[in-house]
Amino acid sequence: FFPGIKELPPDPLFGLKARYTADSRADKVDLGIGAYRDENGKPWILPAVRQAEAKLVASPDYNHEYLSIGGYEPFVKEAAKIILGEDSLAIKEGRIVSQQSLSGTGALHLTGLFLKTFYSGEHTIYLSKPTWANHNQIFTSVGFKVESYPYWNNETKSLDLDGFLNAIRSAPKKSVFLLHACAHNPTGLDPTQSQWTTILKELDNNNHLVLFDSAYQGFASGNLEKDGFAIRHAINDKLINSPIIICQSFAKNCGMYGERVGAVHVITPPGATGEAVAPVLRAIKSQLNKIIRSELSNPPAYGAKIVAAILSDKDLKKQWQDDLTTMSSRIIKMRHSLRDLLTNELKTPGNWDHIVNQTGMFSFTGLTPEMVARLEEKHGVYLVSSGRASVAGLNEGNINKVAQAIDEVVRS
Ligand code: LMR
Repeated sequence: FFPGIKELPPDPLFGLKARYTADSRADKVDLGIGAYRDENGKPWILPAVRQAEAKLVASPDYNHEYLSIGGYEPFVKEAAKIILGEDSLAIKEGRIVSQQSLSGTGALHLTGLFLKTFYSGEHTIYLSKPTWANHNQIFTSVGFKVESYPYWNNETKSLDLDGFLNAIRSAPKKSVFLLHACAHNPTGLDPTQSQWTTILKELDNNNHLVLFDSAYQGFASGNLEKDGFAIRHAINDKLINSPIIICQSFAKNCGMYGERVGAVHVITPPGATGEAVAPVLRAIKSQLNKIIRSELSNPPAYGAKIVAAILSDKDLKKQWQDDLTTMSSRIIKMRHSLRDLLTNELKTPGNWDHIVNQTGMFSFTGLTPEMVARLEEKHGVYLVSSGRASVAGLNEGNINKVAQAIDEVVRS
């Protein structure tokens, strides 16, 4: 009764996680899925999250009732302020609709469905080459045509800005361009601020719709404002005259992976503000609500309440910012240790400076799929086959082993 159905290969990231879990070697190392690990290689519940949980559960209003279809109002309001900034022009001018989503993936899926139905431009989305493995299937599954734009120059291990700009110019006008807001996954390479200006202006010149995927705010620099630069620049400097959509995840920066906390923010173009744009915003909101109602009825409450508690309390927010610094600085330290071990101690062939120049959770190591396979088989060190390593999986206890394993596979 399901003619032609075929079994698919395992998901590249979750399949890797399953292989790692099944591996019985005591000294195995997980540098696969992008989830923060502490200095003992263990999942970390952020102190800000622990404190917010305690506060939430102790509150007389604590319950497990349904949220509204739009989500937990205090969460979506605060989430918008975190990504856009308190003084955002879009908020001041009333040009924003926010909808709670099932983390970043749910946000992207909701956006895809919404654009497929309502966007008057091209139903073609341009993704960076390379990009997060899931982007492609999220958009093909809702009927988008998926294309890519050059991003990573493997020779120079830097941004292929000319290739990127050419793709923007040659794409059909009013296409959709997906941009990683910061801490690009998988390369760990972000445009500089002046490159962002150039990219955003070119996107605007060609009337493309800009879709930001913001999954790592606070992870690139440890600073929320700095990591929100591209988005804030696009909006506050009125660089983009088409709608902007932001898909926001709190999985990584609050360490709430399994709670699926996220939001979609739709920003209407500069020009019409306040009452002039309100009917359009209401229409957008009602259509997003309709999709949510048919797909998940209403968003999950627990994680959203915790994040809202953190974002709306001065002390908890301060704690969260300290937690972001703890995570991002430990990752930076591991980057330096790995680079130093490979370069100075082991004298591993090649240049490893890119490990410290890249930002966020990942390093695009430059290791080939064959080297990655050997790392897994011979050494029990797990990386994505593209050569992406989750630097958060490194710690003082395993970094020597990992460096030696990399050295061995590079030389063999
Ligand atoms: C990753 O890229 O490892 C993470 O975003 C986890 C995921 O959902 O793929």
